[in-house]
Formats: sequence, C-alpha cells, structure tokens
Amino acid sequence: MKNVMSPLDFSVEELEALMDKATDIMAHPQKYAHACDGKILATLFYEPSTRTRLSFEAAMLRLGGKTLGFHSADSSSATKGETVADTIRVISSFADICAMRHPKEGAPMVAAEKSSIPVINAGDGGHQHPTQTLTDLMTIHSLKGHFDNLTIGMCGDLKFGRTVHSLIEALLRYSNIHFVFISPKELMLPGYIKDKLDSHPDIQYEEVTTLEEVLPKLDVLYMTRVQRERFFNEEDYVRLKDFYILDKKKMALAGPDMLVLHPLPRVNEISTEIDDDPRAVFFKQVKFGMYIRMALILKLLDINVD
Ligand code: CP
Repeated sequence: MKNVMSPLDFSVEELEALMDKATDIMAHPQKYAHACDGKILATLFYEPSTRTRLSFEAAMLRLGGKTLGFHSADSSSATKGETVADTIRVISSFADICAMRHPKEGAPMVAAEKSSIPVINAGDGGHQHPTQTLTDLMTIHSLKGHFDNLTIGMCGDLKFGRTVHSLIEALLRYSNIHFVFISPKELMLPGYIKDKLDSHPDIQYEEVTTLEEVLPKLDVLYMTRVQRERFFNEEDYVRLKDFYILDKKKMALAGPDMLVLHPLPRVNEISTEIDDDPRAVFFKQVKFGMYIRMALILKLLDINVD
C-alpha cells in the first residue's frame, strides 16, 4: 500500500497486524528507536491541528527519523496560489512520506495522484480522518479486547464530524455491532452514511436526541464537538454547541465498563469533572494514536523490525 486515504484502504487483517505492531512498539519502544534513521516525514497542514500533526511528528522522531512541514496554509506558498499538486511534487524531493490535512474534501487524494512518496490523509474537510479512526479502533480494541457485539454510541455533531464517518465505515466490517446515534436533528448523520449502514443487514442502528435514555446500554460512548468551522452561520452554532454536556450526573447513568472516547479537542461537551473517571479514556486514546501512527509509518515505508 502506498497511500492512506480512508480506513477502508486496510483489510481487517491488515488493521489487526497494524494494531499488533503498535502494541509491540508500546511494549518495546527501544527496539524501534532507530527504525527510521535517515528518513524524513513531511507534515503539510492547511488546517489547524494539535494532536494529528504533533503525533505524526512524535511518531517519526521516536522512530529515529526527522520531520519538516508547515502548520497552516498561510505559512506556505498556497497563499501565492500554488496548487496541492505542485506542492506535493516539490515535497516528494524533500521527504520520504507525507501526512496532509486540508479543508477541501479530496485534496489529499489529488496530492497522492501526483506524489512519488506515500501520502496519508490527516483529515480532509468533513470527509475522512483515517488515522483518527486507526487511533479509535486501537483504543477500543486495546481496552475492550474486541469489536464484535458492542453497543457503540456516537454523540454530538454527526453531520460534519469526519471522525464519526470514518469510524462507522471501519466498524461496519465487524459483526453484530449496534450503533446508537445521539444528535440534535440538525446534526444527524448524512444520508450517504445511513445508506451504507442500511446495506449491512447484521448492523443495527437507532437515532435519538437524548443522551440520558441510552447511556445505561452503551459499551462505548464516542463524544464529538460541534464543528464550528463547518457551520455557515454563527447563530446555529451557538444554539447547538452545548446541546450535550457529559458530566458526573450523566456518567452515573452509564455502566461501570462504558468507555468514553473523544477525538479531541473538546470544547464544552465533556465536563472536566469526569476527567479522573477511569471510564474517561480520551487522553489514553491520544497515546494510542501516536503508537498506531508509528506502526503506519513503518508499514508505508516498508521497514521491518523483528
Ligand atoms: N483529533 C484531531 O484530529 O485533533 P487535531 O485537530 O488537534 O489534530
């Protein structure tokens, strides 16, 4: 595999191998500390990021490689009108692998078509965020041990949340998952995702607007923030931004083993009062993200460490 545009670029078996590799890296970091000596990762971020960009960079540095890149379109020649296609041709001369985030859906795919190095989609508009999905899968798999037969709630902005769209598509390949989609009606899942759900007869899903009523039955609750940057008007954003706030009172309704994930950043949707609850695993999730990106870099660069 040369590029990663969607979580579906991996077979279920490849995903398992990737998670196994990440688990081994976590257990034996020293074994991998020079695996990427002499290699360079470029991070081309046309849209803001904290976790994804820095976890890619930390991943490459921990593998012994180096990094270069830009963190906003404003600090690149995009401001002078350079296209993504030209930029990636240039970066292909400087780096061995590239992670790209772009506000336009499909931009990393355009780059991949012109690139001579592997391109990883690090989030394109409201479309896909495959390495966040790898992070989420790794977190659930490491802490629950399996995906089959889980009841997974997804709450918040299900319309614009690309992490939700990517995660649903990846989970559709497992058996007997029950999804519970919790959102205000303005932020319900897009029709094209529901069409995909409908084409899997062993997948059940329900859509609700109230979090409290479903909390007791969830194995995993995936919270998301309302995506201010994708709203056309501020008034709608202000009306919807605090629709769900997960606090101690609501956590009391959930089971003792329910995991709370969030791709982060959070705004108000998870109260800091639950941060010390052992079920709140969103900061552990960030760490899993770095290790799975280390495994991904090794795979794309075809580097084997035994
Ligand atoms: N989860 C995530 O994509 O975070 P950043 O926007 O900070 O990269």
